[in-house]
Amino acid sequence: MIRLDAVEKRYQLGARPFTALQPTDLEVSAGEYLAITGPSGSGKSTLLNLIGLLDRPDAGQYCLDGQATENLQEEARAALRRRYIGFVFQAFHLVARLSAFENVELPLMLAGVPRRERRPRIEAVLARIGLSEVAEHRPGQLSGGQNQRVAIARAIVMNPRLLLADEPTGNLDQAAGAAVVELLEGLNRDGMTVLMVTHNPELAARCRRRIRLVDGCIVEDSPSWDRSTA
Ligand SMILES: Nc1ncnc2c1ncn2[C@@H]1O[C@H](COP(=O)(O)OP(=O)(O)OP(=O)(O)O)[C@@H](O)[C@H]1O
Ligand SMILES: [Mg+2]
Repeated sequence: MIRLDAVEKRYQLGARPFTALQPTDLEVSAGEYLAITGPSGSGKSTLLNLIGLLDRPDAGQYCLDGQATENLQEEARAALRRRYIGFVFQAFHLVARLSAFENVELPLMLAGVPRRERRPRIEAVLARIGLSEVAEHRPGQLSGGQNQRVAIARAIVMNPRLLLADEPTGNLDQAAGAAVVELLEGLNRDGMTVLMVTHNPELAARCRRRIRLVDGCIVEDSPSWDRSTA
């Protein structure tokens, strides 16, 4: 589903370029549940943003579901992103003046889903993550854990095949974090491919596959469950 060939990302820092991601090869199959770990500044978010088509590599090839992405115009990249990918950020990125319901509605509106089809889809996804009761609350009226679950609802309401989560439990206490992880695990059991950046070794240990980045290089790739049984 995901294939990176020598994908590289550089940032210009002052006069000299800084390589945030060294040329990297990575393959992820449909249905995998993968943790990306590594110290702060090792390139985890850089890698996830490239995979999520939020950013472009400076070199190398990235194929998503068999489609080469490097020559796509912005419009086509956005369309591919909307169709395939849900993205969950550490800091939720919800719209403060909109209710939970309306935040989850945004991707459906962007995709041009008619109003009468939107409501049942939003209600189903809010019910699934246990937030039906607070659908009319705004982010300021919800806890961190609830907000993160709203963010996940927004990421999955279009039914993406790929869910990318950057430190989804980073701002949460243990109980709220556990609820978020259970939600991600359930989505993966139902067939969604899930890639999660995490600092938390316990969370990483629950993933079937773990890759570890140090200084922009993958230094460890635990055997994938999919491949070890294939
Ligand atoms: N827009 C940018 N401009 C310049 N340098 C950047 C930019 N974004 C990231 N970097 C640098 O690239 C490196 C990798 O950053 P990245 O955000 O991928 O790390 P990370 O592993 O996600 O760290 P953390 O665990 O703290 O989130 C860091 O050294 C960072 O300072
Ligand atoms: Mg990061």
